[in-house]
Amino acid sequence: MSEQDKVYPVNPDLAAKAWIDQARYEQMYQQSIDDPEGFWGEQGKRLDWFKPYNKVKHTSYDPHNVDIRWFEDGTLNAAYNCLDRHLAERGDEVAIIWEGDDPNEDRKITYRELHREVCQFANGLKKLGAKKGDVITLYMPMVPEAAVAMLACARIGAVHSVVFGGFSPDAIGSRIVNSNSNIVITSDEGLRGGKRIPLKENVDEALANPEVKTVEKVIVLKRTGGDIDWHDHRDVWYHDAIAGVSDECPAEEMNAEDPLFILYTSGSTGAPKGLKHTTGGYLVYAAMTHQYVFDYKPGEVYWCTADVGWITGHSYIVYGPLANGATTLMFEGVPSYPTSGRMGEVCDKHQVSILYTAPTAVRALMAQGEHVMDSSKRDSLRILGSVGEPINPEAWEWFHRVIGNGRCPIVDTWWQTETGGILIAPLPGAIAQKPGSATLPFFGVQPALVDNEGHILEGATEGNLVLLDSWPGQGRSIWGDHDRFVQTYFSTYKGMYFTGDGCRRDDDGYYWITGRVDDVLNVSGHRMGTAEIESAMVAHPAVAEAAVVGFPHDIKGQGIYVYVILADGYEPEEDLQKELVKWVRKEIGPIASPDLVQFTPGLPKTRSGKIMRRILRKIAANETDGLGDTSTLADPSVVDELIDQRLNR
Ligand code: PRX
Repeated sequence: MSEQDKVYPVNPDLAAKAWIDQARYEQMYQQSIDDPEGFWGEQGKRLDWFKPYNKVKHTSYDPHNVDIRWFEDGTLNAAYNCLDRHLAERGDEVAIIWEGDDPNEDRKITYRELHREVCQFANGLKKLGAKKGDVITLYMPMVPEAAVAMLACARIGAVHSVVFGGFSPDAIGSRIVNSNSNIVITSDEGLRGGKRIPLKENVDEALANPEVKTVEKVIVLKRTGGDIDWHDHRDVWYHDAIAGVSDECPAEEMNAEDPLFILYTSGSTGAPKGLKHTTGGYLVYAAMTHQYVFDYKPGEVYWCTADVGWITGHSYIVYGPLANGATTLMFEGVPSYPTSGRMGEVCDKHQVSILYTAPTAVRALMAQGEHVMDSSKRDSLRILGSVGEPINPEAWEWFHRVIGNGRCPIVDTWWQTETGGILIAPLPGAIAQKPGSATLPFFGVQPALVDNEGHILEGATEGNLVLLDSWPGQGRSIWGDHDRFVQTYFSTYKGMYFTGDGCRRDDDGYYWITGRVDDVLNVSGHRMGTAEIESAMVAHPAVAEAAVVGFPHDIKGQGIYVYVILADGYEPEEDLQKELVKWVRKEIGPIASPDLVQFTPGLPKTRSGKIMRRILRKIAANETDGLGDTSTLADPSVVDELIDQRLNR
């Protein structure tokens, strides 16, 4: 039996106590498809609404009229749902456990305390001029104040745009320009793996660019106390913004379709897109998936190791868990610091029941051998989760056997920034797992596989993954550019949402995501556009032309391989390779660092001048035997040269 055929059946004890067992999954799934109005109308009641909705679903995937609305005549507030409504019953229970980069630093915040902090900061924001509809940029370390700031924005009806702390000043600046953001919330420095990250300095540099014109205030949290520059007219300390400010702040009444946040993500072309998520449907979906996919039970400690700068952090550190009144753990550091067993040690220290992490983290641990987890017992763990990239069966098995002591089901959750929440995953009490498969769709989700012409393929097959109908958590648009939204997701296959992923379906109807079919890379679970890296490369004077592809990487999943044609007068030297790597780090951020830079006199192109990436990918992957058809190349000798010069790794 091949590794991929292995089945891990549902544990009957777990199923007996789970929110959803197999029979219930089947019955609810059927109902969600047969009667979406009735199904979601009922699910929407898991939130508190100021004004209840009468209309449930109003969605069209017609490319001439893409229009997605859920609960459109209802009003609510996301922060109210994450805080106020829990106060009577569980005000003194812990909402956030914060674990610092330094193992000696931690903090527990109850719902009552979190409510107070959010209200106070919301009033602080208002005092600085923030109002409903403003876009507020967050560039924060993983500290409770990041969640406080997100919820404070939601409370006053401002739209947050969180920029991951690993992005460069240029990346911050372009996001501010695109969103017309008027306030930035940051910290003096971040702390990760014992190293200080110059967050405020990066913001200063971003705002020094004359094209970045809209920012009036920068609110700075004191985290490390490190030296920073100060601009009196613009900069305000976080502690000054809340000093003497009331801790009562009414929650703004928002329409279900008012924007809650923007989150930028990379695509196959152009600059990153600001996905727009709205309030009602997003929160219903985040809360429901958090409860059912992780089988979350009241009182359990739940830990998602993502950063709040990504969609995983939005939906499964902040909004989903807090809407459910859960205890969510927020970790400032990295899994390997100060010891390589830190992840397990944190599980023991806080008695974590549910651990949601990324395959790249599992592979990094696995590479260190069996004993890397010896410093912890992890007896409290009940459910494991994986997200962000395909998990190879070896890593799945190791995650299960070593981290989970062979006891815990793994929910491999497939979804995207665009989807707002998990779409395909094995509900732990209902669906048997197969290592490497995200398994079956969540309620209301209708996946299908299509060929390149858009014909729906039936049965066990492989194709492009599309979704046939909307679910409440779906992103509604691209900020300021609805045409691009339609073009990117709804015009490749008419009447369907195209995910950009390839996928296989087996005889049991299980889905196996095979990776992106467009020019998007997935590096350590981080999504990167090849076009973005290419445009950063050609901005360097030494680069005449660049082509970027991914190649298989043992830990990162995919590495970044760059082919460069040098401009006249530049020599292919090692120092220049290093300089170009540094350049991309500066232009985009450290997560986009190329792994390999190969200088080449030419690139394989068709006679019409299109770069043949398929060939570049093969050469980067060292699969030079099966290059396929090269007869359409303008100059086939380029390929031999590229192979000769291919970098050893
Ligand atoms: O290719 C898929 C991969 O990550 C992409 C989405 O990236 P992003 O928007 O950054 O969101 C990541 C966190 C949800 C998808 O198009 N991906 C995500 N989860 C999985 C996955 N690939 C395989 N298996 C997964 N579980």
